[in-house]
Amino acid sequence: MKLLTIIGARPQFIKAAPFSEEYRKNNEEVLIHTGQHYDANMSDIFFDELGIPKPDYNLGVGSGSHGKQTASMLEGIEEIILKEKPDGLLVYGDTNSTLAGALAASKLHIPVYHVEAGLRSYNKLMPEEQNRILTDHISDMLLCPTQTAVDNLKKEGITAGVVNTGDIMYDTVLRNIDIANEKYSKGLWFDEIVRENGEISKISENEYYLATIHRAENTDNPEKLSNIFKAFSELDKPVLLPLHPRTKKLIENLEVGMKNIIVIKPVGYLLMLYLTSNAYMVVTDSGGLQKEAYFLKTPCTTLRDQTEWVETLENSWNVLSKIDVKEIKSKVQRELTCLQHPQPKSFGEGNAALKICEAIVNGGKINE
Ligand code: UD1
Ligand code: UDP
Repeated sequence: MKLLTIIGARPQFIKAAPFSEEYRKNNEEVLIHTGQHYDANMSDIFFDELGIPKPDYNLGVGSGSHGKQTASMLEGIEEIILKEKPDGLLVYGDTNSTLAGALAASKLHIPVYHVEAGLRSYNKLMPEEQNRILTDHISDMLLCPTQTAVDNLKKEGITAGVVNTGDIMYDTVLRNIDIANEKYSKGLWFDEIVRENGEISKISENEYYLATIHRAENTDNPEKLSNIFKAFSELDKPVLLPLHPRTKKLIENLEVGMKNIIVIKPVGYLLMLYLTSNAYMVVTDSGGLQKEAYFLKTPCTTLRDQTEWVETLENSWNVLSKIDVKEIKSKVQRELTCLQHPQPKSFGEGNAALKICEAIVNGGKINE
């Protein structure tokens, strides 16, 4: 079966790695990179580290307004569908690349497979919520990471083609954590950060907060963004912040203090896994990183009012914080009672790639 797969943003490369490997054992995949993310440290590095096949097409759409970016992807993907005549099209997650791919295929009556279907924050102001709702409602097969996602779809009347496969990011973590530990232990993680960024003050394992910030709802509001940096500068441990290019641009116009904050360039996946697993806590507004912290048993504080990954909140492994200086400080510096609690297996067994392949090839059936 010939599948056309759309990727374009950092988290999609990380999700694609295990799936492409599994699917290509017995099937044909044509890979389209939309070019939504294009810096080497937002794109190429993941292909190199994770052995993702070279894309057959790169649309090179780059950055732009939602309308311009999505329209340009839609046009490019449509052309490729007409040329390649695939049996189906697969999209991951909730970015503009996801929606463009799903919409192009749906209009041409090509079956749409949505990996990470059914997630909801119930905040329709988020571009991701808009993208995922629209994508779910035009998808033919909805490959869900959790039972919560299956239940969310049911509430919207979607039951046909819904399959719980477990979370594919869990597959990627399990396949790479030993490799990351091998590559970065014995202080080599710190050497690499210095090599890439120049001298920084010394930080020790388990004695830093690992932070990432990139959500539009936080970065596009100057007051919120300033509050986040103010809170970070007043925390009791240094904050290591691999900074997303979106946020880097936006803080250039803001008067934010950097005391206690070590800003570095975005890092590759293996170093990120190592840093996550050895952090005292992760502080983030990322979707993927909340889960990785959970998989690696690192406590997390999420700088948002909602999370789609509600399972991580159980026993306070992950805690939500409003963007308020006092609240961020108290949530981050909370007592870590979670460390005494086991984690239920809410994200599957780490074999989502295989289950997604089975579901696609067998019309929705997976071997239990
Ligand atoms: C996108 C997704 C978001 C996802 C995130 C993962 C949408 C609407 N948003 O957000 O859901 O969580 O990716 O990281 O699809 N930029 C660069 N170099 C790059 C890429 C981006 O400099 O390689 C800068 C540009 O200034 C660009 C800005 O980052 O305008 C935002 O990029 P964009 O892809 O539009 O959205 P993200 O914030 O990355
Ligand atoms: N990530 C990375 N390097 C970084 C920051 C994040 O490899 O400097 C990885 C992170 O480990 C996770 C993914 O990128 O696997 C999450 O992507 P992001 O936070 O950009 O998007 P989201 O998951 O919020 O959509």
